[in-house]
Amino acid sequence: MERLQKYLARCGVASRRKAEEMIVHGLVAVNGVVVRELGVKVEPGRDRVTVAGRPVRPVTERIYLMLNKPPGYITGNRDPRGRKTVLTLLPEGLPRVFPVGRLDYNTTGLLLLTNDGALAYALTHPKYQIEKVYRALVRGVPTDHALNLLRNGVVLEDGPTLPATVDIIGVKAGNAILKLGIKEGRNRQVRRMCAAVGHPVLKLERIAIGPLQLGDLGRGQYRRLTAAELKALKNLIDQARPASAGEKGEDHAPDRKS
Ligand code: URA
Repeated sequence: MERLQKYLARCGVASRRKAEEMIVHGLVAVNGVVVRELGVKVEPGRDRVTVAGRPVRPVTERIYLMLNKPPGYITGNRDPRGRKTVLTLLPEGLPRVFPVGRLDYNTTGLLLLTNDGALAYALTHPKYQIEKVYRALVRGVPTDHALNLLRNGVVLEDGPTLPATVDIIGVKAGNAILKLGIKEGRNRQVRRMCAAVGHPVLKLERIAIGPLQLGDLGRGQYRRLTAAELKALKNLIDQARPASAGEKGEDHAPDRKS
């Protein structure tokens, strides 16, 4: 027997955390009966599991895609407000994938999509502290003092941030372009950090996740990760694996972004 959310992640439906949300929202049925509680277990191969009416099966092929997200797309599977989702940028016929973490509607850049629930978990769980790097155009030019506040961690309404790396890499019409690396993924974190030191974000692009670099991948374009990229990513995750991040923790992952 296997926990329903774990089975759904193994089927490439979503990360465990997202799968839990889908269950609570009544999208998942076992043997034709909608399940809304999180304790339910299924017998793979015997129980019939459907998501939004469509049967799901464990994934056999793992797939890892890098997408350069354009502005004006959400990273969720569907949007009650009818906005476009990044999944519409992928061709039909690919195995089903889900975005690893989120980017805001107007944030652009590197988004990883996969059906590998364990990898998605490690990349988004704060315990692993995988660095994500952003290029942010901010209003005005931060002083050394403001940069040091970002480097040391700023206090946001949900608590202080971990130390970040930040450098000014350009100035355009009186506004600075920052290269900013963070090891957490709280909701709208970069925007809130920059606003907290008096320099609201005007444009935001993610350019790296751990060893993965966006490079010159065009806006709206996607490609498969190379074998070398995947190996580097998995090595990093192995090195970063916290002693306490065991099987149990994965079923109770806290809310996180990317
Ligand atoms: N931080 C933000 O503020 N927004 C994003 O989309 C990603 C990180």
